[in-house]
Amino acid sequence: MAPIAWKPEFSVGDPAVAHEHRELVELVNVAAGAILDRRPDADVDRCLGDLYRAISAHFAHEERQMTRARYDQLAPHKTDHERLLDSLRDIMDRAETTDAATGLRLTAVLEAWFVDHFRTHDARLHRRLGPHDD
Ligand SMILES: [Fe+2]
Ligand SMILES: [Fe+2]
Repeated sequence: MAPIAWKPEFSVGDPAVAHEHRELVELVNVAAGAILDRRPDADVDRCLGDLYRAISAHFAHEERQMTRARYDQLAPHKTDHERLLDSLRDIMDRAETTDAATGLRLTAVLEAWFVDHFRTHDARLHRRLGPHDD
């Protein structure tokens, strides 16, 4: 089961970014699957930890690119990243009550954010940066 289906617009027109975004979508699905399958708490915690680390690393990468490029929308873009990390920490704090509602909330919150952020902030950023491989 893949709660979040890949959408072509997630690639934001750049293969390297598409690869990272695809990994994030997969990690959300793995974590949500662990919750919905009622896997042991340690497994759920590990999946959520992997997801949080991968998302943080991806955001740090983009924020370095924005700083280097003196990107004009760095502040609002970074604020939107922080909004997602806050939501994710909130979900993780309540993850000891791993039930179907938590799994569904995880995918609903992350999918809504991916659809909006990738289509707006990331699309604009990567159009502005052009092709890159760092
Ligand atoms: Fe991104
Ligand atoms: Fe971003």
